[in-house]
Amino acid sequence: MSATTSYEAMFSTVIGKDYDLLKLICPAATEMSRLVGEVVQTYPKTTETLQVVELGGGTGITTLALLSSQTNLHVLSIDNEPTMQEQAKHHLQQWVTDGRLSFCGDDALTALKHLTDNSIDLIASAYTLHNFLNSYREQVLKEIFRVLKPNGQFINGDRYALNDIRHHTRAVQDEVSQYFEILTPLNRTDVLKQWIVHLFNDESEDHVMRENNALQQMHHFGFIDIKINHRMTVNALLTASKPKPSA
Ligand SMILES: C[S@@+](CC[C@H](N)C(=O)[O-])C[C@H]1O[C@@H](n2cnc3c(N)ncnc32)[C@H](O)[C@@H]1O
Repeated sequence: MSATTSYEAMFSTVIGKDYDLLKLICPAATEMSRLVGEVVQTYPKTTETLQVVELGGGTGITTLALLSSQTNLHVLSIDNEPTMQEQAKHHLQQWVTDGRLSFCGDDALTALKHLTDNSIDLIASAYTLHNFLNSYREQVLKEIFRVLKPNGQFINGDRYALNDIRHHTRAVQDEVSQYFEILTPLNRTDVLKQWIVHLFNDESEDHVMRENNALQQMHHFGFIDIKINHRMTVNALLTASKPKPSA
């Protein structure tokens, strides 16, 4: 079995049908979770347990990628939608029993506000921040910076809109065509409707995270080494670090 196949097999087994359907409709979404885990894997290992906060754990796809990336790591997974978080709790109960995972049902901003300054090594997320209103996201990013330890990293696999608006529109049109092509033969017009309706939210002026604006915003809050590491059409992996205090 190849490494990719065993990764897929593990996710299909633990997360079940949700993972399989998401992989079909939006392969970039599951790939971004994998990439988030891959970045955490390369984060320097220490004797102390790495403290990771996950924003928007959903059904547990990104959470599992994080938990699989390193053994000496604890994840606090935050999601304010109980129906989603209950599924993650069900899928990932073994990791809770092992003391490697805990959950918080607050919204991201409230949860972050409860954390102390400079206390967390990594804050990771996939496909969550693009759902935030711009004004709410701004406050969340400020809190992320405050809560991260110096040298700590923010890792986000998400929808980062292309700077070229015409290219972006074309990519979204391709995305919509893809939903129809995949979901119509499966007779899943219920899922098709949900995805199209949700897309209007994602693309609205008060939500959209355009790459240049997002990078400038991170810079403004004090992040350094801000990078877009991978881009898959409208999706990208962003990493950024909190600087060490100058000597
Ligand atoms: C698209 S899902 C992504 C789940 C998972 N990371 C993945 O990639 O499969 C986004 C999740 O963010 C959660 N979410 C949205 N807004 C949130 C907020 N303000 N605070 C916490 N969680 C939020 C939703 O409930 C949902 O479970």
